[in-house]
Amino acid sequence: MPNSTVKSFYSTTPIFYVNDAPHIGHAYTEVATDVVTRWHAQRGENAFMLTGTDEHGEKILRTAAANKTEPKDWADKLVHDAWLPLLDTIDIRNSDFIRTTEPRHEKNVQKFLQHLYDSGFIYQGSYEGNYCVGCEEYKTDGDLLDGEGAFEGQPVCAIHSKPVEKLKETNYFFKLSEFQEPLLDLYSREPDFVAPDSARNEVVSFVRRGLDDLSISRSKEKFDWGIDIPWDDSHITYVWFDALLNYITAIGYGEDEEKFRSLWPASLQVVGKDILRFHAVIWPAMLMAAGLPTPKQVFGHGWLLVGGEKMSKSKLTGIAPEQITDTFGSDAFRYYFMKAIAFGQDGSFSWEDLSARYQSELANGFGNLASRVLAMVSRYFDGTIPAPAEYTDADKAIMEVVRKATEDADASIERVAIQDAITSIWTLVDELNNYITVSEPWVLAKSDENRARLGTVLYVCSEGLRALSILLAPVIPKATGKLWAAVTGGSLGALDDATISSAAEWGVLPVGTKIAELEPLFPRIEAETEGK
Ligand code: ME8
Ligand code: MG
Repeated sequence: MPNSTVKSFYSTTPIFYVNDAPHIGHAYTEVATDVVTRWHAQRGENAFMLTGTDEHGEKILRTAAANKTEPKDWADKLVHDAWLPLLDTIDIRNSDFIRTTEPRHEKNVQKFLQHLYDSGFIYQGSYEGNYCVGCEEYKTDGDLLDGEGAFEGQPVCAIHSKPVEKLKETNYFFKLSEFQEPLLDLYSREPDFVAPDSARNEVVSFVRRGLDDLSISRSKEKFDWGIDIPWDDSHITYVWFDALLNYITAIGYGEDEEKFRSLWPASLQVVGKDILRFHAVIWPAMLMAAGLPTPKQVFGHGWLLVGGEKMSKSKLTGIAPEQITDTFGSDAFRYYFMKAIAFGQDGSFSWEDLSARYQSELANGFGNLASRVLAMVSRYFDGTIPAPAEYTDADKAIMEVVRKATEDADASIERVAIQDAITSIWTLVDELNNYITVSEPWVLAKSDENRARLGTVLYVCSEGLRALSILLAPVIPKATGKLWAAVTGGSLGALDDATISSAAEWGVLPVGTKIAELEPLFPRIEAETEGK
């Protein structure tokens, strides 16, 4: 239950089209949002992450028809066979999953529309122009390219390289043009509203050029897979207007005021930069028109590239997440994409880089550290955490690394700089490995007079592992769960309840704790995956 004295952290991902199964681009957005949300939960906040599926519109209708099914049946199948299983595959801890075909969404989209209509923000007009079904977006002539090959002589969408439709319809329009000034005010009043800076700059210059009103309905003469316009059932709602509202219908807008107030405005809305304008221009304008607060931040991340191009379903370059997790596991998937690419920038996926980082960073760097320390506690102290004696400068240096890694990582997550956070935490992995090399516990173990020193060294290492379990839990929850169970032996409760700030405290692990057996964290991968 939400506790009002605790800070809430509401995060969202885009809701994905159910025209096809997920690829690693969708998984990337999910993982990043999940890592940041888990971090906030680990801080002790009320963290709530929403994800889901976007099921209306012409694109889904056509896909269903091409597969000789009804759109709702098609959506049900994709959600159950592909989109929900994805969340397990990559270990997402979402709080809710919204589908735009659910009554809680449809009903309250209509409420929102009626409210805007009644307050004069929606009027009837006529639309004449281009529409790309792949993008589900109205296109200006400037958005189009000259077609090639089979489409020679026709204007095509710059993203899908396919001809656009010519539309001439009577539609309802949202007075987006009235929001140019309010939006520019928002961007300057809240400089972090759009992040990173590159995304912010793009949005600001786009809005400075002026905004046209937006057609928010489609005539049912063309197709009818959508939510009825409440005052005119010869029209359905434009799929983006419908989809954006998921972020509030899922948390009680229109029906559970208390829940809605406890979570809205969202703290972080993560999107790919392909859909940044919808989220940083249209969405806040819709909210302002309805008199609702705007989200605290919309973060537009970069693209995963394959062969230098944006990986996509429509271009058939999609890699399924299970292709990676079947071999490397979900933790490695999560770690790799968060560590190898600066969140906000584009990045190329490569099997070689993934394999190399798995081996050197996860298996040799982190996994080996954990198993060595626990093996020495078993061997030299019969599996009992020894008492530290006097701390030397080397020991104090490790304490300082723990403190600084925690502080720096926390500050990085505040900026959604996930890669920087991991880099800070990894200073502790590297420094502990160095500390062991220099301290040579296996040499200390040879003589009784060094027994106290050996105890101190292994206590310092064990405390380091406790801190690492907490700090890495948001990124690699499975491995850290195993490590926590082994190093605390049940003496400190659940890892979920260990706060980020407790990672930086020293001397928390009770002396005399019986450690438990450590399950292998990052097992060796046989070479058969190469060339995949
Ligand atoms: O746009 N690299 O859904 P969608 C990184 N339904 N991220 C990628 C990616 C890539 N190559 N390809 C896709 C829609 N993504 C709408 C959203 S929200 C109210 C409605 C991710 O299925 C990225 O998050 O086309 C991108 O924004 C999203 O998938 C687009 O998913
Ligand atoms: Mg898309």
